[in-house]
Amino acid sequence: MASAPDIPLPVMVAVFNQKGGVAKTTTACNLAVCLTAFGYRVLLVDLDTQGNATNSFGVSPLPASGAFEVITGRAKVADVALDTAYDGLWLLPATMSLRDNDHLLAHAGRRRGLLETRLAGTGVDLVIVDCPPALAAATATALASASAVLMPVRPDPFAHEGLVNTWYEIKRIREAVNVQLGVAGILLTMAGSEATGDDVGRVIRAEFGEQVYGVEINTDPKVAEAAQMSLPVAVLDPDGLAGRAYVDATEELLRRLERQNRPGTRLRPPGGRDEALNRLREWRSTTHAALLRTPTDGQGWAKRGGKANGDDDDDDEADDYFGSTPRPEQAPPANRGHALLLGLLGIVSGMWIEALTGGLRRLFLGGG
Ligand SMILES: Nc1ncnc2c1ncn2[C@@H]1O[C@H](COP(=O)(O)OP(=O)(O)OP(=O)(O)O)[C@@H](O)[C@H]1O
Ligand SMILES: [Mg+2]
Repeated sequence: MASAPDIPLPVMVAVFNQKGGVAKTTTACNLAVCLTAFGYRVLLVDLDTQGNATNSFGVSPLPASGAFEVITGRAKVADVALDTAYDGLWLLPATMSLRDNDHLLAHAGRRRGLLETRLAGTGVDLVIVDCPPALAAATATALASASAVLMPVRPDPFAHEGLVNTWYEIKRIREAVNVQLGVAGILLTMAGSEATGDDVGRVIRAEFGEQVYGVEINTDPKVAEAAQMSLPVAVLDPDGLAGRAYVDATEELLRRLERQNRPGTRLRPPGGRDEALNRLREWRSTTHAALLRTPTDGQGWAKRGGKANGDDDDDDEADDYFGSTPRPEQAPPANRGHALLLGLLGIVSGMWIEALTGGLRRLFLGGG
């Protein structure tokens, strides 16, 4: 399906490695928030049935509508994307249906540009896609649309084999489906945690050369601490080891996208580094918990203040799974007010639950 030529397409970066537990989700979430801090409008898409990126922004359980519904034409991105506590960053969440119906995306994975077309006209500059740890249909769907793929690699003894397999699969998809797919580099993550890590890192650098980022993301306990608080580490600790490294990696990603110089990877210049760091520090001071508003029906950004483009059609069903393309939506809103309010309500209700469960514990266990 070709998109209308006047509808701007965002630059799409898929974060993928076939290997599990290499910091794909951590990287996708942190790059998304750092790119936002650099002044871009960013949509983070969670295509992993585990829903870790969605949970990372405090959305749990997974909502009823999200990435799967948008890809299959059952929902418009404007209706189901969630705004976050970070001005300019939106989340297209994973859903239970993605978990249960992943096989229905098989067709989308063979079709060049379907996800890109579904996201056209949203007004975002960049889309970051968190992929599952396998070449599942969802991954193929992302790679069939992406401008570039970024591969996080944890330098453990099996890292090299995993990377070679991943590289091979990407090459295959580029040849068969998406000739535009570029490489946005290999990012070494959780460096310094394995005795053999330095050796593995050296082997990967020797073999993949320039493709490997100069900056490495070191192992940092703040990452787990941040995850527990539903915050990206770049927000919790922008001046720390991993937080600062993700800011550096973001700058390197932007340089790499610029160097590719493909029509689909051109971005306006980023804001300044100091400005980005200040924005992260500001978010740190204003965000102490997941401040994403509760994902309820009809809370997508187009719903606020009426439907986008005067669209009165209430029928959310698409003609078929892949037939119709949602019309371009209005730009996402910048208002965070009620998200903050709901976040505070969440904290207060959490305290109530804690008080209640504490009371029940005392009742059943007879403790003091
Ligand atoms: N720099 C880091 N320092 C310490 N812990 C980290 C770091 N990066 C990631 N982690 C932790 O490693 C674990 C795996 O990270 P993550 O979930 O991002 O990997 P993944 O590749 O997305 O996993 P999966 O393949 O299951 O999707 C998480 O517990 C995360 O908090
Ligand atoms: Mg993950």
